[in-house]
Amino acid sequence: MNVFITGNSSGLGLGFTEALMAREAIVWGMSRRGCPLKAKYDDVIRDRRQDLGDLNKLEEGLDRLLSDCLRLDLVILNAGTLGRIQDLADTDVHDLEHLMRINVWSNKLILDWLIQRQLPVDQIVSISSGAAVNMSYGWGAYSLSKAALNNLMQLYAHEMPDTQLLALAPGLVDTAMQDYLCGEVDSADYPSVQKLKDARGTEHMPDPGRAAEMILDLLPQLRAQRESGDFVDIRQL
Ligand SMILES: NC(=O)c1ccc[n+]([C@@H]2O[C@H](COP(=O)([O-])OP(=O)(O)OC[C@H]3O[C@@H](n4cnc5c(N)ncnc54)[C@H](OP(=O)(O)O)[C@@H]3O)[C@@H](O)[C@H]2O)c1
Repeated sequence: MNVFITGNSSGLGLGFTEALMAREAIVWGMSRRGCPLKAKYDDVIRDRRQDLGDLNKLEEGLDRLLSDCLRLDLVILNAGTLGRIQDLADTDVHDLEHLMRINVWSNKLILDWLIQRQLPVDQIVSISSGAAVNMSYGWGAYSLSKAALNNLMQLYAHEMPDTQLLALAPGLVDTAMQDYLCGEVDSADYPSVQKLKDARGTEHMPDPGRAAEMILDLLPQLRAQRESGDFVDIRQL
């Protein structure tokens, strides 16, 4: 199984990579820090350090990373950044622009690259969020980006007829994002973070390895049952 994953240096992306090693996959990964499993699985992990926010360099990075790849069974567009939980009115538009580059436009360029290189891909899953539809107070930048990501997948579904594209909300996962949300955001200011604090340490917020296994187990079923372009929240399955 050939898989390309963005953002596999930590969190859910690293969880996917680890789970895929047990499934005898070859993983191509892209992140700024690099995948820490590369040394252990040098023969089956290809890794490239790349800032997805630097859009001008992305095409060249993809050419270099995927030069020996002839087809992909799965692409996981997982890299993402949360930004700060704050009022949208206090959010600098340049910070919004930067976040949109990572969470949305880098994914557009990756899809364009796959189309232009005519690399056959069976399934593309972008990691979205419940924030794509909730529009909770304080989640402005992130919610805007994940809503745009969902729509990006739906729009590209028309242009990639041989590939299934999905936007998938993974539920709560205990990663660095939750360190910030649970540790630094006051629920008196932004009440929606209270349910994250309550979920942490319980089965409602699995670790990245468990969440990744659960999602990978679900993908064949989603491949068979869902329309390309769909948004799937795994908590609603
Ligand atoms: N944790 C949750 O509860 C939760 C819930 C819903 C959705 N999600 C989504 O799940 C995905 C993974 O997040 P996570 O929770 O695992 O957080 P994380 O541990 O912070 O992982 C984020 C990953 O994205 C990469 N990334 C961020 N900015 C990048 C950039 N400029 N260039 C290249 N790579 C970049 C990071 O790599 P580098 O820092 O090495 O570049 C890292 O590997 C995100 O899309 C997030 O929105 C998470």
